[in-house]
Amino acid sequence: MTDTLRLGIAGLGTVGTGVVKIVQRHAELLSRRCGRPIAITAISARSRDKDRGVNLRHYAWEDDPVVLARRPDVDVFVELMGGADGPAKAATEAAIAAGKHVVTANKAMLAHHGQALAEAAEAAGVNLRFEAAVAGGIPVVKALTEGLAGNAVTRVMGVMNGTCNYILTRMDDAGLTYEEAFAEADGLGYVEADPELDVGGIDAGHKLALLASIAFGTRVSFDDMKLEGIGKVSIDDIRRAGDLGYKIKLLGVAQMTGRGLEQRMTPCLVPSASPLGQLVGGTNMVVIEGDAVEQIVLRGPGAGEGPTASAVMGDVCDIVRGMKLPVFGQPAETLAPAPPANAESPACFYLRLELVDKPGALAKVATVLGENGISIDRMRQYDHPGAHAPVLIVTHKTARPNLDAALSALPGTGVLTGAPVALRIEEV
Ligand code: NAP
Ligand code: HSE
Repeated sequence: MTDTLRLGIAGLGTVGTGVVKIVQRHAELLSRRCGRPIAITAISARSRDKDRGVNLRHYAWEDDPVVLARRPDVDVFVELMGGADGPAKAATEAAIAAGKHVVTANKAMLAHHGQALAEAAEAAGVNLRFEAAVAGGIPVVKALTEGLAGNAVTRVMGVMNGTCNYILTRMDDAGLTYEEAFAEADGLGYVEADPELDVGGIDAGHKLALLASIAFGTRVSFDDMKLEGIGKVSIDDIRRAGDLGYKIKLLGVAQMTGRGLEQRMTPCLVPSASPLGQLVGGTNMVVIEGDAVEQIVLRGPGAGEGPTASAVMGDVCDIVRGMKLPVFGQPAETLAPAPPANAESPACFYLRLELVDKPGALAKVATVLGENGISIDRMRQYDHPGAHAPVLIVTHKTARPNLDAALSALPGTGVLTGAPVALRIEEV
């Protein structure tokens, strides 16, 4: 290495240009804090001619990110292209093989290949850092691997997708349609190149899988995660849940129980007055519970140019300062295979049913719930102009198989006029 730490950046979209701007704007500040100057030497993207709103004239251009990753004048390869495989993975592997440190914001790549990449990086004696991959500007990877290293973590949960939280917030507070709210989130630079990654819960699931690995000392096991996106969350449910004192969030929960490692990323109800219930817009929140610290709550912008570039630069600065940490908080070869939970923890559930408005309809529903061991905590029937009565039920804590059995049996009562909606109420 020369005195200056030299970055090669592959990917000059929302995050990449954000990183370029910080390096240019804060050259003196970064040098003072890190003890060495940081400079960009080479860059890569698909289109060389695109106007990206930043001055890139002084950097060498490479069409191929793999070639960039191997350049002798690059000390740290910064991967900001995205994609689980393809050029991102090829260039990351090439950088590690060439003895370069890697900083990436790519949760998809790490959720699928994190173990192999971590083993390769640790064998090569280089850093592979990914703060920006989880919860944008919130330094949650650092919190888990460093500040909370003295804890046995019991649960990690949170809202980790800015796009989904933004959409749900705007549907709730501005009455926007799903499509209108999505267009706004896209305009803010939150949305992935493949939007299904966001709204399908996959992106947030990738992030939760990475945190679970650090928290529980297990290999990243994204394939065992229960995933459900926000596509089926209706404005009706947002309103009705609000009436009952809840907000609907795409909530991730990872916890090690006697049943194994439980990992869920699903729409859930949380109390409106709770910190998670009050989270609006593209903001993310991660709640970590440990045996010594009890509970900490981290909140901040989860996506967008500045916040994500901020996290990338945090990793770069650690590398300049000479820090070396195992990728997932302990040597990759010591990470245990994650035992997938065979059942999810019992919970209270929100049920919304549309019933025919005739004598005995509600009694039939109550009977099915009772027969499946489900006790009703609260119930509300709304005024209705037509012959269909909207009914909300909040159950007492129940096991998911009991709920599923009841949901299968309910159509047999002949009193439902539409498919029932069931959402988990998370204790937060
Ligand atoms: P983006 O705006 O779509 O930018 C992607 C960049 O990668 C573009 O500059 C593109 O080139 C370049 N690229 C794509 N394929 C390439 C290839 N084969 N060779 C060379 N360059 C290629 O994406 P982004 O939002 O910045 O996200 C980048 C990464 O950060 C992703 O892993 C994403 O999940 C992650 N992330 C994003 C955010 C966020 O808020 N946006 C937050 C956290 C993490 P062109 O510009 O020429 O097309
Ligand atoms: N698409 C992601 C989001 C970007 O909306 O949260 C941040 O990872």
